[in-house]
Amino acid sequence: MKIIGVNGSPHANHNTGFLVKKVLEGAGKAGAETMLFHPERMKLRSCKACMACKKRPLACSIKDDMAGFVGAVEEGCGLVIGTPVYFDHVSAQLKMFLDRMYCFLGPDLKNHFPKKARAVLVMTYEADNPKSYESVLTWIEERLKGYYGIETIGSIKLHGSPCRLTSNKDAAICEKAYALGLKLAKNK
Ligand SMILES: Cc1cc2nc3c(=O)[nH]c(=O)nc-3n(C[C@H](O)[C@H](O)[C@H](O)COP(=O)(O)O)c2cc1C
Repeated sequence: MKIIGVNGSPHANHNTGFLVKKVLEGAGKAGAETMLFHPERMKLRSCKACMACKKRPLACSIKDDMAGFVGAVEEGCGLVIGTPVYFDHVSAQLKMFLDRMYCFLGPDLKNHFPKKARAVLVMTYEADNPKSYESVLTWIEERLKGYYGIETIGSIKLHGSPCRLTSNKDAAICEKAYALGLKLAKNK
């Protein structure tokens, strides 16, 4: 079982990265092979709508680090998708990454993402209301399911999180992240 993290924060080890890694830690404990992509540090360009992938599945005219992700996903894999809220939505880094997943939709928009993939979402933001930005999580969830058939099995929301290095997050949220990693890897 392969579990693939995507940290959409520009920071590798702040709030979002910390929690994405907690989920991966849980998955690793359950025996999964884990890997982490960090769009900020990848050579990555935005989708230019050339439609090469609509002629040939998985073809992309942009030769950059997205190929690593396309090559890594496999049937039954798990994804851990994390983002900070920036200006009321996902980070630009995560948006670019999600847009580039368009290559999984081939001719006639047929879905070529490996089957039975599942996801855990991580979202962190500063607003002090635990109910804020539900629509952003729903937006990610619906994109994953509607385009690629990826089922979201749970999500972590960290609210009231100022933009600073995280060393000691709330124990309950860390436990939830770890437990979701275990669940993702056990495929239950
Ligand atoms: C440029 C910028 C825009 C932000 N926009 C929002 C926002 O719209 N709503 C919010 O609640 N927090 C906002 N925040 C706070 C971040 O979402 C929050 O600190 C998050 O945990 C940062 O994630 P990171 O530590 O992984 O970088 C913003 C922070 C920055 C730097």
